[in-house]
Amino acid sequence: MKGMVFTEFFSLVETAFGEDMLDDIIDDANLPNGGAYTAVGTYNHMELVAMVIALSTRSEIPVPDLVKTFGTYLFGRFVALYPNFFDNVTDSFVFLSGIENIIHAEVLKLYPDANLPKFDVQIEGDELVMIYHSNRHFADLAEGLIIGASQHFDEDFKIVKADLDENSTEFRIVRQ
Ligand code: HEM
Repeated sequence: MKGMVFTEFFSLVETAFGEDMLDDIIDDANLPNGGAYTAVGTYNHMELVAMVIALSTRSEIPVPDLVKTFGTYLFGRFVALYPNFFDNVTDSFVFLSGIENIIHAEVLKLYPDANLPKFDVQIEGDELVMIYHSNRHFADLAEGLIIGASQHFDEDFKIVKADLDENSTEFRIVRQ
């Protein structure tokens, strides 16, 4: 996982829980590099998982809630860091439909070693169906990112989530 995901996670933890909490979870997680990440480096995603579990234990907030909140925060950071991806996009469903072939395809050009999920996307009537595939199990992150998109486009989504198999989760999204 790219270092920028780690550094953004650190910013959120520091802002929401404080610097001591950040130091504590870095200690708890027993990280191979002692918690030093550079934005362009690549690290094992399990290091992020270990820190989220440590944060969950200390904060008593369930892991899925933390990961989802991080996803929503991360979306806001993507808007700030990659404004070009949002040029002339006014429709949330058009934006989300392009995650696989446009956004993540561009991300892969920028960072050839990025480990991106795969999305199968289709529109069924007024529903956008996104099926997330990844063996890294970040469906909660995807849900948080989708919520971030709804906020960015100033829309209210109803999201129905269903695990299809160990590595696939379906999101059925309807605008309210
Ligand atoms: C401008 C918008 C976006 C940008 C720039 C972006 C970029 C990225 C980057 C840099 C990573 C890290 C890859 C790695 O660590 O190797 C990532 C991972 C991920 N992205 Fe996106 N992304 C965007 C929007 C979205 C949206 C809207 C979703 C959900 C629908 C999404 C779902 C994910 C997930 C779930 C991962 C974690 C990796 C995995 O699950 O295997 N992304 N993305």
